[in-house]
Amino acid sequence: MNLSVPRFSQHQFLNLDVLTYAANPLSVAGVAGSSNYRFARVDIADKSALTACVEEFKPELVVHFAAESHVDRSIVGPGAFVRTNIEGTFNLLDACRPLIGKQELLFHHVSTDEVYGSLGETGLFTETTAYDPSSPYSASKAASDHLVRAYHRTYGLPVKLTNCSNNYGPLQFPEKLIPLMILNAIEGKPLPVYGQGTNIRDWLFVEDHCEAIWAVIERGRLGETYNIGGNNELRNLDVVQRICQIVAEETGTQLQSKLDLIQFVKDRPGHDLRYAIDATKIRNECGWEPRETFESGFRKTVKWYLANAEWIASIKTGAYREWLEANYDGRTDNN
Ligand code: DAU
Repeated sequence: MNLSVPRFSQHQFLNLDVLTYAANPLSVAGVAGSSNYRFARVDIADKSALTACVEEFKPELVVHFAAESHVDRSIVGPGAFVRTNIEGTFNLLDACRPLIGKQELLFHHVSTDEVYGSLGETGLFTETTAYDPSSPYSASKAASDHLVRAYHRTYGLPVKLTNCSNNYGPLQFPEKLIPLMILNAIEGKPLPVYGQGTNIRDWLFVEDHCEAIWAVIERGRLGETYNIGGNNELRNLDVVQRICQIVAEETGTQLQSKLDLIQFVKDRPGHDLRYAIDATKIRNECGWEPRETFESGFRKTVKWYLANAEWIASIKTGAYREWLEANYDGRTDNN
């Protein structure tokens, strides 16, 4: 991202981040030196610090990406999810409330398809699918979506919402399936597949997701929700096997030595079977379609992790290793 290009150069950016375990300042190195970019270390659950920032900056556009996002962590410790995703969203909405009617303002809420629960073998999530979240994470995101809509209806806050499928791509913290499997395959470590690996996710390249959010900000209707999907439904086991193939090709190693790393481990409690998105609304109203196919996006992603040892080293702290031990120890028995 280059903040000096015409699309961005007339805007001032303020990046608020509490810098949890999943953050890495290297991820914003490309924009950090731009004259129209500022950073503030703020916890959205800290209402007074957050409100002070909003009062001072008076944003015309708030894009609310801040969240605890990892389902497995929400099962181990749901409290942080309630605090950041529900209370934090409330704080951000409430901090924006005094700006209503006084200046240009749009609150864009970034959410997840997991609010809809699980699909069976067929069907797609649409914007009118009933909410039915399974995990503490998805329940907290569902609550945050409801708060955003309530602020629109009650106070007239100008809002838009997007609910996306599984993201993948460069810079993703390696607790998520794809970067975890890429790094483990590169390093010859076990590839832990939950259950039988038959759960299905719809994979969306991160830059396609960002373009979709921008398209909704520019062309979406106020108060509306838009689902965003990659049109790439795959079983987890197929994803992991494809990672093995690409890592073997890119590193010049035997495919079988990578496939042998696959281990079927104990399933995630409340594991949603299948997610798949009907993206007709965003296509018709905002003219957005994903550009990346799974094949092209996937190879780019593997190559990025192979080429960015410095970034990987900087996130592999003690906290990361502790999480791997906490989540995967005791999963080895697949019963
Ligand atoms: O659908 C959007 C959601 O996608 C986002 O809202 C979440 O923030 C994001 O974390 C992601 O949730 P998932 O639970 O689908 O992603 P995760 O990468 O954790 O897992 C993807 C699939 O892979 C899921 O079926 C569980 C499985 N899995 C995951 C891990 C980490 C494994 O089989 N083994 C693993 O080690």
